[in-house]
Amino acid sequence: MQINQALKLSFLLPSVYAQLHGAAKTAGLLYFGTETESVSFGDAAYQAALKGNDDFGQITPGNSMKWDAIQPAPNTFTFTAGDAIADLAATNNQLLRCHNLVWHEQLPDWVSGGNWTAASLTQVLQNHITTEVTHYKGKCYAWDVVNEALNDNGTFGNDVFFNVLGSDYIKIAFQAAAAADPAAKLYYNDFGTEFPGVKSTAAQGIVKMLKDANIKIDGVGFQGHFTVGGTPSVATQVTNMEAFTALGVEVAITELDIRMTLPQTDAMLAQQKTDYQTTAAACLATKNCVGVTVWDFDDKYSWVPSTFPGTGSADIMTANVTKKPAYFGVLQAFTGTAANSTTTMPSMPNMTVTAPSLRASSSGASALDKPGMILGMLLSLIFAMFIVS
Ligand code: G3I
Repeated sequence: MQINQALKLSFLLPSVYAQLHGAAKTAGLLYFGTETESVSFGDAAYQAALKGNDDFGQITPGNSMKWDAIQPAPNTFTFTAGDAIADLAATNNQLLRCHNLVWHEQLPDWVSGGNWTAASLTQVLQNHITTEVTHYKGKCYAWDVVNEALNDNGTFGNDVFFNVLGSDYIKIAFQAAAAADPAAKLYYNDFGTEFPGVKSTAAQGIVKMLKDANIKIDGVGFQGHFTVGGTPSVATQVTNMEAFTALGVEVAITELDIRMTLPQTDAMLAQQKTDYQTTAAACLATKNCVGVTVWDFDDKYSWVPSTFPGTGSADIMTANVTKKPAYFGVLQAFTGTAANSTTTMPSMPNMTVTAPSLRASSSGASALDKPGMILGMLLSLIFAMFIVS
């Protein structure tokens, strides 16, 4: 083999073998992950994709760690479903993002409809959080401690916690979580906060409120439930996330999916690819954005069609685990390649090979900005020299 042929081959290697999580790590992130739930446990194709290809290095339970699943009746704790997801993460060697401790949805009636005083609700809140976080102590990379506390106009939502305790419930929740598992990263998680505006500013206010009170908060999650063509630009998302990291917290994209009006068209799938690539690139370009999680990777298990009838196809793979253009949009964001540099390799079904580029990626950040990328290139070079010799 001629040395120039070997070198050309070697530069293709990171793209050929990189899958989403592997590529994310090489680019400098901690993980690429997905939401999942036990409804998929009997689905062999789904499970193989979840664990087999280095696409998903992190999982989040969609429902089974929420209040109604964990404590459906006062002091009746049921960890079976949550444990199944925690066990799956351990078996697959995946990081676990634990979701969530306090949310106005999927909250049992005994809590939302209770006749509480500040003291009695504080005790219930502390008991729930202490018991659940202690149960999963050491297993959660992060906890979404408080989920969706804000209205779109930046005011606090009028749920039972706010109505009885005011914004102090957020302090109580983070304090209890920190005491129960000091090593877990504690997050505030919300949607509609992915771009500058009143809701994002209010979420920054929550971070400041906790920091000012010397209460531990480590991160802010941006859910990223977008619509095709409606995804904020890379610059918008980076500017927004940097407003949070400037406050001393890490950030993550925690629930990314990008829905479209059905039936899908090639044009919408192409736009969806751009939108996924945009969001992945924004995380990559933001110092202290640690990872991207999709809110399931397979359209079969998407929450979207039942919640927004007439829309769907929101995930990066079809209902039979075929990679959609969006999959390659994410991969291209992590490998620093241009959106239109995709060619299909016939010998590997569903596999797209992209020619790496050393020029600025769509994020505005050079592919060489992240040290892992340099390491990947060096390893490829060594491999090429090995072939030649
Ligand atoms: O468990 C019951 C089952 O017993 C019953 O037979 C069935 C009948 O509808 O409902 C089942 O509960 C459903 C639950 O998912 C578990 O499948 C609820 O109806 C359904 O509303 C619930 O949807 C979840 C939704 O949160 C609730 O708002 C979705 O699966 C879950 O993906 C979604 O996740 C949220 C995040 O936690 C927070 N951010 C937004 C995101 C999307 O809504």
